[in-house]
Amino acid sequence: MIPGLPLPSPVLVAAGCGGTGRELAAYAPLSTYGAFVTRSIALDPRPGGPPPRVVESPSGLLHATGLPGPGLEGFLASELPWLLQQGARVVVSVVGATIQEYAEVCRRLGRAPGVAALELNLALPDAVAAGLLDAREPFVAAGVVAAVARDLPRGLPLLVKLRPDVLRVVEAARTVAEAGADAVVVGGAQPAALPDGRPAGLSGPAVRPLALRCVAEVTAALPDLPVVAAGGIADTADARSFLAAGACAVQVGTALLHDPTTAARIAAGLTEEPS
Ligand SMILES: Cc1cc2nc3c(=O)[nH]c(=O)nc-3n(C[C@H](O)[C@H](O)[C@H](O)COP(=O)(O)O)c2cc1C
Repeated sequence: MIPGLPLPSPVLVAAGCGGTGRELAAYAPLSTYGAFVTRSIALDPRPGGPPPRVVESPSGLLHATGLPGPGLEGFLASELPWLLQQGARVVVSVVGATIQEYAEVCRRLGRAPGVAALELNLALPDAVAAGLLDAREPFVAAGVVAAVARDLPRGLPLLVKLRPDVLRVVEAARTVAEAGADAVVVGGAQPAALPDGRPAGLSGPAVRPLALRCVAEVTAALPDLPVVAAGGIADTADARSFLAAGACAVQVGTALLHDPTTAARIAAGLTEEPS
């Protein structure tokens, strides 16, 4: 349970993998999901990086999107109202080049009606290349969280997506929880490189065991901190193993790009008895 964020289903759409929502809505109503996590929104519009942005590898997907997006004003004007109209519970993923930018975007989102929660993206595998804040050090991550939490409207849940560094994820989770995070998103894309050497994230089946290890480490060390799992979840059995490791919810990302019905099928599968 995440305080202040009731989830009718423990299956969430992972940030950046459901597009603006319009693409996914063609396959299942957006109200099917526990929540729809938006692509990461920055203060100003971002064009995204040069192609290729996505490359398949034998075990997973490499991506270096440069986080293209409409900026906060564009998001508030077109993407958010449409998502709310569809009955989606909207968790807005936030990104920034500085601590002040994270705080500013969150402050303004906090005043926007209908936002169910915020998710700080502190897990960027290619932050420096994308001109964004490099929050790999837990004390930097905690600095962002503290600055955001200071100005957040009461009761708006703050999720923090952590880097999937199995050696330091517990330290990072503890530090951001002390700084004001209500929940952590654990797992996510591993730092990798595109064939041309540019920094990228690796997601999909390859990262699932690493993500599971990160989740298990955090839930064992911090049993009172809600953990949302992400990383290679592609079917109901995957989701069950992350929930059994102590996660309160799971996010589905790359699997949606292969089959946009995956998250809806997992949500339905979890309501049935395990076979
Ligand atoms: C094409 C693509 C775009 C992504 N965009 C974002 C994003 O905007 N913000 C973010 O926090 N994560 C982003 N991610 C990471 C996913 O949300 C997820 O954490 C990661 O891919 C691991 O889960 P998966 O293996 O189920 O994809 C993106 C992943 C992919 C494949």
